[in-house]
Amino acid sequence: MAILPIRTVGDPVLRTEASKVTKFGVELERLVADMAETMADVHGAGLAAPQVGISLRIFTFNVDGASGHVINPHLEIGEELQPDHPEGCLSVPELGFVVPRQQWARVTGVDASGAPVSYEGTGMLARCFQHETDHLNGQLYIDRLEGEDRKSAFRAIRKSDYEAVIARTVAERGQSIDSSFGRPARSGRPSAGGTTKGS
Ligand code: NI
Repeated sequence: MAILPIRTVGDPVLRTEASKVTKFGVELERLVADMAETMADVHGAGLAAPQVGISLRIFTFNVDGASGHVINPHLEIGEELQPDHPEGCLSVPELGFVVPRQQWARVTGVDASGAPVSYEGTGMLARCFQHETDHLNGQLYIDRLEGEDRKSAFRAIRKSDYEAVIARTVAERGQSIDSSFGRPARSGRPSAGGTTKGS
């Protein structure tokens, strides 16, 4: 297995709708294993294949003891929104913003062997499923922001010093980084610390 480099905002692969997986076999199993290892290395809650430069509909997750992977996921969500909670993304380092998400979600798809799988959850797990499915559709959580938060997020990633933030994050990865989904070091602006989080 291998730890894969994580693509960051600005990389076109993150803005591309991923393709359905049609070819199953050893290569796919290796990719899923590498994604799980990569996600664990950065203590991420979720990781979508485009984040490692592979434009295929696959994500791995590990939230509150629930872990696994889903290939060609179909997402269903409830109507009720969950309480405000800051969200982060491994591909948008050192930022965190409150994103409206539904309280309940279910993903249905197949695993690397092609067997049907279905996972459902509430709260952080439901948030993760929605966040990762967005990745497969070429969408980042910052696209869902509105008003001042949206301005603030896009201003932050356009600033010249954000390249330095990304460079530092990339340099730190491969070592173990303290991070967890949805718990940004500081909400709304790049933080001075080296912690990152997200999925
Ligand atoms: Ni993400």
